[in-house]
Amino acid sequence: LASVEVNLSNIPVGQAIKVMWRGKPVFIRHRTEREIKEAEDVALNQLVDPETDDARVQKKEWLIVVGVCTHLGCIPMGTATGEPRGDFDGWYCPCHGSHYDSSGRIRKGPAPKNLHVPTYTFLTDTSVKIG
Ligand code: FES
Repeated sequence: LASVEVNLSNIPVGQAIKVMWRGKPVFIRHRTEREIKEAEDVALNQLVDPETDDARVQKKEWLIVVGVCTHLGCIPMGTATGEPRGDFDGWYCPCHGSHYDSSGRIRKGPAPKNLHVPTYTFLTDTSVKIG
């Protein structure tokens, strides 16, 4: 499918879901206040691939990223219920140990780039179209 519509109303704060888009997993995380603050408070000079959190989200509470590790393409993991994993409240890639933060930015490990942000549009406050 060229685009996929996702209903966000069933994703509790602090959890994430995975949807498939163009054959790739896309992670949609309903961020907590703490995760948002952590993402905003990081100094750009601490980042491997410097990007502000603002540049990566349209609405602060929703982080939407392609769930493909930028190292060699494994799928980074949260927990089964979508809670964050890794040292930076985001995702952990078990293949070679890359840690992504609560903005999906690479913080530790071999991955060279942040998790990619797909094109998306909010249709309503609780519905988003990816692609
Ligand atoms: Fe993710 Fe290597 S593929 S760390």
